[in-house]
Amino acid sequence: MEESSMTQTTSKIKKIGVFTSGGDAPGMNAAIRAVTRAAIANELEVVGIRYGYQGMINGDIIPLHSADVSGILQQGGTILKTARSQEFRTPEGRKTAYDNLKAHEVDALVVIGGDGSFTGASIFSKEYDIPIVGIPGTIDNDMYGTDYTIGYDTAVNTVINAVDKIKDTASSHGRIFFVEVMGREAGLLALSSGIACGAEVIIIPEDASGAEDLKNFLTKGYQKKKTSGIIIVAEGDKAGGAIKLAEKVTKEHPDLDVRFSILGHMQRGGTPSAKDRIAATQMGVAAVEALLDDQKSVMIGFQNDKIVHVPFNKTVKAHRPIDENLVKIQRILNIW
Ligand code: F6P
Repeated sequence: MEESSMTQTTSKIKKIGVFTSGGDAPGMNAAIRAVTRAAIANELEVVGIRYGYQGMINGDIIPLHSADVSGILQQGGTILKTARSQEFRTPEGRKTAYDNLKAHEVDALVVIGGDGSFTGASIFSKEYDIPIVGIPGTIDNDMYGTDYTIGYDTAVNTVINAVDKIKDTASSHGRIFFVEVMGREAGLLALSSGIACGAEVIIIPEDASGAEDLKNFLTKGYQKKKTSGIIIVAEGDKAGGAIKLAEKVTKEHPDLDVRFSILGHMQRGGTPSAKDRIAATQMGVAAVEALLDDQKSVMIGFQNDKIVHVPFNKTVKAHRPIDENLVKIQRILNIW
């Protein structure tokens, strides 16, 4: 007997809306494609909501067919565009959004985004009877309840590629470079990419040892054991970022040749890595299955490589902690 790819369901859902919200991340398109195709495979209609919650308020809603998501798997950014909507924070904005969804006969939603997007979804689903499932998409990898968020792996690789280039010039000139990495209040992207590019020091908000490591590197490491140095600084670190740190070190050590580089939004772009494409595809299919299984207000996540469903109210309350073992490893490898 031929096996069906459809989920056996008694769900009343007929049409789902998919949208991306907050900062874009490589792999979001792969998730849109997976949601659309998995929904169609289950005989559901699909619409795309452009510009996130703002598009919901503005009625910027378009039909999505299988062909509409063809050829997007490998593209960075999001074909549905994205936004951070202030209007959706108001009850009036959410009412207009709901009315528009009803006018388009949308029964359920899949939101692809970070914690701000899930906070919005959580409030919306409490006020209005509409099932919502979230797919974590952010280069910050800071969502509580999932080991992985779409875009992280690509962003780590983007940082590594950039730092490898900076290393060439740092080494040629014998300079110390402070390289600022994104992540908002979280240091996960800085920590992973710092380990992967062999940074001499990593400064992140979650662990104070970076300041001591920097002091040791400047006094015992540089010019004694190393002729150049890469200091990765998470943008959310309390020391104030790469520029401030570079200025401080230059003032305290005028003999040193110090430069800084802020990698910025290049970290959000680019073609998604294999890991991001696969994770996005798995999560997209799981999101549709969760809706058909009558789940609501949950984020799809990965824990120990298995798909899990985490309630929004859990995931928006905390951030994912850093891996303390990585901090330990970094310190073992950089003793001066
Ligand atoms: O959350 C993703 C992220 O890229 C953060 O790392 C960064 O702090 C923020 O978004 C930047 O936001 P914007 O694109 O609005 O400047």
